[in-house]
Parts: sequence; C-alpha cells; structure tokens
Amino acid sequence: MNLSADTIQEIDQIIPKYPEKRSAALMVIHLIQDEIGAIDLEACEWIAQKLEVQPINIQELITFYPMLREKPWGKKHLRVCRTLPCALRGSYATCQSLEKKLGVKEGHVSDNGEYSLEFMECLADCGEGPVVMVDEQTYENVDAEKAVLLADLLLKGKLDSSKKFVSYEQALVSESKTKASVKSKSSKK
Ligand code: FES
Repeated sequence: MNLSADTIQEIDQIIPKYPEKRSAALMVIHLIQDEIGAIDLEACEWIAQKLEVQPINIQELITFYPMLREKPWGKKHLRVCRTLPCALRGSYATCQSLEKKLGVKEGHVSDNGEYSLEFMECLADCGEGPVVMVDEQTYENVDAEKAVLLADLLLKGKLDSSKKFVSYEQALVSESKTKASVKSKSSKK
C-alpha cells in the first residue's frame, strides 16, 4: 500500500497516545481513508499488522460505521438525509432530483467517477431539511427544485463560489470574520 510519508508519520505519532494500540484503530482508519479514499483488503491488513490485531477486527469497524468504506466514492460525494424530519420535507424527491441530474444512482458512483450519492440517516441539521452534504459542506432546505440548481452548479464547478447556495460551514466562517472585524474596529475607537 502506498501511503505518503506524512500520513505514516501522523499514524506513528497518534498510536502512542492511546493506552492500547488497538484503541487508535478509528483514527488510523480515518487517516488512511482520507488519503486513499477507502479501506480495501490491503489497507485493512496493513492497519491490523500496525495495531497488532486481526484483520477481522478492522473489517468489523469498516462494515459497522457508515462513514467508513471499502470502495472509494466519487470525486464529489453527496449525502442526502432520509430521516423523518427531512423525509417529511421532501428529501426523497431531493435525492431523486440529484440522481437524475448527476446521472448517478443512490448508493453508487457515476460512470465517470465524478459523483457518488448516498441516501442516509440524519446529518445532524434536523431543523433545516431537506439537508444535503457535498463532501464536508452542508446545504439546508434543499427541496427537489433547489436540488436541480445545486446539481447544475456542481456540474459547472461553480457550487463553491455560488451566492445561491451558501453552506452552513461557509456561513459560520463569514459570520466569525464579520464579528472579528466589528471587534477590531470598535477596539480602535
Ligand atoms: S433529520 Fe435530516 S438532518 Fe436530521
């Protein structure tokens, strides 16, 4: 398995922070998944050897937690919440719109490898559904109609710069910047 020297160094620094090597399993899995996109059999065996456990001990974590995977997702990974509050606000239709527009079936990767789509349980933003995540950015109130626009911007590579869709995370950053600038102006008076 080809891991970067940085990731190996990070893994070697993390493991001694735990009382037992095996307790570092999730951290190690996340670091590797972040770099290579998934934990395949080779990665599973590598981790097991590193943590002095059996490969099955790593495999059971990967198959239990939905955020861990054995095969890589697309370059852009979309998640749509299907839990009741979002479902009542139309997340099933949202998911269908995204499937159609991006040409990818829920639970799969598009043929060109660009997009993958997951229809999954709560994304922890229940008051503002339907909630859609694109990689680590959270978009709120994305009904079926808005999902078409969102997918369109994504296809054009303009979602991040769009004023129509500001993610929860982007909004937090600009709010904290505004507060910092107000504070610095008032301290200069
Ligand atoms: S129910 Fe959709 S984010 Fe929680």
